[in-house]
Amino acid sequence: MTTNEEILGRTDANDLEAILAITNDDMDSVIHAVKDNADAIFTWDYEKGARPALNKLYEKAKTSQWNGETDLPWETDVDQEQVVLANAANNSGLDEGMDLTGTPFEKWTEKEWIRLGIESQNWTLSQFMHGEQGALLCTAKIVETVPWIDAKYYASTQVMDEARHVEVFAKYLDTKLTGHYPINAHLRMLLDDIINDSRWDMTYLGMQIMVEGLALAAFGFMHMLTEEPLLKQLLRYVMSDEARHVAFGVLSLKEYYEGLSDAEMLERQEFAFEAAVRMRDRFLQQEVWERMGVDVRRMVHLQLTHETNKNDDPFQQLLFSKIVPNCKKLGLLDRNDFWLRKKFSEINVIQFEDWTDTGEEYELLDELAKDRAAAESA
Ligand SMILES: [Fe+2]
Ligand SMILES: [Fe+2]
Repeated sequence: MTTNEEILGRTDANDLEAILAITNDDMDSVIHAVKDNADAIFTWDYEKGARPALNKLYEKAKTSQWNGETDLPWETDVDQEQVVLANAANNSGLDEGMDLTGTPFEKWTEKEWIRLGIESQNWTLSQFMHGEQGALLCTAKIVETVPWIDAKYYASTQVMDEARHVEVFAKYLDTKLTGHYPINAHLRMLLDDIINDSRWDMTYLGMQIMVEGLALAAFGFMHMLTEEPLLKQLLRYVMSDEARHVAFGVLSLKEYYEGLSDAEMLERQEFAFEAAVRMRDRFLQQEVWERMGVDVRRMVHLQLTHETNKNDDPFQQLLFSKIVPNCKKLGLLDRNDFWLRKKFSEINVIQFEDWTDTGEEYELLDELAKDRAAAESA
């Protein structure tokens, strides 16, 4: 059986030094090249609708396109300090219920807390933007590598969706916020691993199930929290696309995984676990602590103990609330003697296994259709 050491490069998922040793040492370069190790696959079987669920998703995607330039209220003025104060009022922050004595926050005044809120927002939206570019590249790769015509058709619509997502997050950062962050080292490592893998289904598992499953949950959380009308609208539209993307992963892999051996399934289970840990690590937001002049080692330690002691942390909960039920639907939790179930228990996220999976949820999240219907009846 493969060990944590082999999967993660460390025995303990919470090993502080090993987490801090993963850094982005390539901050100044404009491009980053990754080997994608895969053959481009033609299929001569053009029968449209051979996979009805994917065909339905493709038809839905064609009518759900929106224009990032003209469908969002870009004229909205954004006062980031006000946004931070409003978010703080709506949400319990990191300090909630924590004893700050002896921590880097002990002497902080409102000024520092506001600055932390601003930096966190710049960081969060920057990471979303980089993740969206990861999705753009992964989905372009799926167009090439997936052997089914219905999946190639659908994936092509997702390429357009992801281009639009990169575009709107970049525009929001450039015109409404106050600074970019480079890609987080853990996120970059995960995206590189996904693109590196030669097997077409691993792109789906890494991107559509894990990264996009987490993004869907994180966007939902942010959408709920923010009262800033432009970001709220942007997130609603992005989420309605993302729900289709996660459904694409669930529907495609469901069929494929039914034919895999235990040994092949174990490789997928290990990859899902690795992705879950990398994504948790990225939310430690090391780069923000660095920019705030706070002791990064202290902070990461605090967060690791805070998170593992607080299974009811609402943000942590929501992040994995889509991933775990989708992994369950795909049969990933229990194969090979409950391997992934045990791992998800170790990182305290198994409690979401019976939440709604995303196979059908995209119909409920079609915000564009709702807006169009409302405009017609007005
Ligand atoms: Fe996206
Ligand atoms: Fe997506």
